[in-house]
Amino acid sequence: MQIDASSASVRDVYQWMVHTILPRPIAWVSTVDAAGRANLAPFSFFMGVCAKPPTLLFCPVNDRRGQPKDTLRNIDETRDFVVNLVPASLCKAMNDTAASLPHGESELDRFNIPSIPAHRVRPPRVAGAPVSFECALDRVIHVGEGPAGGNIVLGRILLIHVADDVLGPDGMPDPARMDLVARAGSDLYLRGGEGIRMARPD
Ligand SMILES: Cc1cc2nc3c(=O)[nH]c(=O)nc-3n(C[C@H](O)[C@H](O)[C@H](O)COP(=O)(O)O)c2cc1C
Repeated sequence: MQIDASSASVRDVYQWMVHTILPRPIAWVSTVDAAGRANLAPFSFFMGVCAKPPTLLFCPVNDRRGQPKDTLRNIDETRDFVVNLVPASLCKAMNDTAASLPHGESELDRFNIPSIPAHRVRPPRVAGAPVSFECALDRVIHVGEGPAGGNIVLGRILLIHVADDVLGPDGMPDPARMDLVARAGSDLYLRGGEGIRMARPD
């Protein structure tokens, strides 16, 4: 079958994208607003960009009213954020934080998610995350407008926290020890899976 993305409904295109572009890593993004109130939300349209300069991206779409979500509002105001990665042990907590709380109400407080201060940015990081990236806003690229319109948030990575207990014998993070969850379509999360090791051609 084929789906003509230029004539299908926004909802259908979205469904086909999230059921096909997978597994998607999850950026669990902490931010603060101008008053210093913390916010935490998951985003699975998320990827690294390059190491020079160290850069990642994630994509909060506009909400149903066409307004930026709290995460983007806060980044616009305070210009920094933390991307936390999500182990299976925090999957439920992460999923809880997708709730639409009133602006200014902290998901960290509402769902009792322990956090610790970051070093280089104002938002706190999630204490139980095996990896957290402290980022300064590089730029926001707006793609489309109104409800469901997209925004690409590019962040300059300033500091990477890696929990010592996820490091493997080679000194790099061991995927099995990190036990990260990934997003598939609808309400499905993926965990673990079989690895295939293959040397890269020259
Ligand atoms: C696993 C997961 C992945 C999500 N990925 C995205 C995403 O990539 N972009 C987006 O706009 N919303 C995404 N959402 C929905 C947001 O998390 C949700 O709208 C949240 O309320 C936004 O919070 P905020 O208003 O505090 O920023 C995702 C939700 C879940 C559970």
